[in-house]
Amino acid sequence: MTPCIAVSLCLRGISHLTHNIVNMKSAFISFVIIVCSYGSSFAQGPPTNYDESAIPSYTLPDPLLSPNGKAVTTVKEWERKQRPYILKLFTENVYGKIPGKPAGMHFKITETDTAVLNGRAVRKQVTIYFGEGDAAPSMDLLLYLPKANKPVAVFAGLNFNGNHTIAADKAIKPAKYIKRKDGQLSDSEAIEASRGSTASRWPLEEIISRGYGVATAHYYDLEPDDKDGWKQGIRTTMKDALHIATGAWSAIGAWSWGLSRIQDYLESDAAVDAGRTILIGHSRLGKTALWAGANDQRFSIVISNNSGEGGAALSRRIFGETIRNLNTSFPHWFIARYKSYNDHPEMLPVDQHMLLSLIAPRPLYVASAEEDQWADPKGEFLSAKNAEPVYALYKLQGLTVNEMPAVNTPVGETIRYHIRTGKHDVTLYDWQQYIEFAESKKVVSDK
Ligand code: GCU
Repeated sequence: MTPCIAVSLCLRGISHLTHNIVNMKSAFISFVIIVCSYGSSFAQGPPTNYDESAIPSYTLPDPLLSPNGKAVTTVKEWERKQRPYILKLFTENVYGKIPGKPAGMHFKITETDTAVLNGRAVRKQVTIYFGEGDAAPSMDLLLYLPKANKPVAVFAGLNFNGNHTIAADKAIKPAKYIKRKDGQLSDSEAIEASRGSTASRWPLEEIISRGYGVATAHYYDLEPDDKDGWKQGIRTTMKDALHIATGAWSAIGAWSWGLSRIQDYLESDAAVDAGRTILIGHSRLGKTALWAGANDQRFSIVISNNSGEGGAALSRRIFGETIRNLNTSFPHWFIARYKSYNDHPEMLPVDQHMLLSLIAPRPLYVASAEEDQWADPKGEFLSAKNAEPVYALYKLQGLTVNEMPAVNTPVGETIRYHIRTGKHDVTLYDWQQYIEFAESKKVVSDK
């Protein structure tokens, strides 16, 4: 039922009831209740579909079909025209723009400990200032590097709850913003209690012992993850310096921009092999890693962990979360125009396999979790599958299989995929696969 039909049915009800003047007031109240309740269910959209047989049929746009209707057949055509064209479609319809590096950006190493993790690693804390002077907006970067006699490759990713939550180490500078249970932000409460609370998502010993470093920052340093977060974040504080209107980008864009600034720092650190940075993100930060990796080709490998709708999962496959769900619960993640596709993913000129294809020819890992049906594991697999033709232009093999693999059985060459048992999370199992993938791809940056 459309809203117009709903309203006219209500009006019909009212005209009937108003024959009796006594009923006028109650008729009006019923009208308001019906319209309002219809309005709110309309805002939420149809119930979530978890039934494979109920997915409406869909056709994916072809990443290799150029706007003039011709097929792209060479790397040259892809890189010169088609890739920029697809990137622009995502910019204009989904995530918004990403501005460049700010003038005056500088780094201050605020702490170095050369013997952490049983003497096996070096920890550095760095403030990345997004402009001249110490009053410029900034982000706190936490870095763990294995002791090595040559520069090391680093996994770079944003964290959800603050640097101090990734390891129970009192020397780690606490996050500037802590999200309390009541939804308020507080920079004083709960810090000690939350130290190390997300350590299972950052298995430092394992990563360091395999010879890789970790670079992470709290995503709230860029923009608090709230519908009004833009008021405090860089979309407001850096508006003039970056010459970009707040609405021209999105929270995911702001977080992605921060990942590029982390890479800027890594390039300045002699202990780091910044040509081999591996970008990693979980969930909303997986969506962010994909968007950052699409825009910034300095990232040599991109990993999407359970990124779901608006990340790796196909939008046209109506299963689990939908575009409407995303835009209703998280109106700040994407640009305003994305809302016009709430009930019409088929109208989008792109689908998410095209975002994955923008990572080519760099190695890409897409990971799902069996109990994370909201993120549509099969939609993530099919999206990776449909990015293969772009990798094929580079004569690179993608997933190498046509059907979803069994749980805990990674598949693929330059595009790798796994679905692990368990719920929506980043686990040691996931990290072990990512480390193996990185080891098997001795990639160097193409820039
Ligand atoms: C919600 C949201 C997802 C998102 C996830 C997360 O579940 O609907 O799109 O990926 O949060 O970031 O944890």
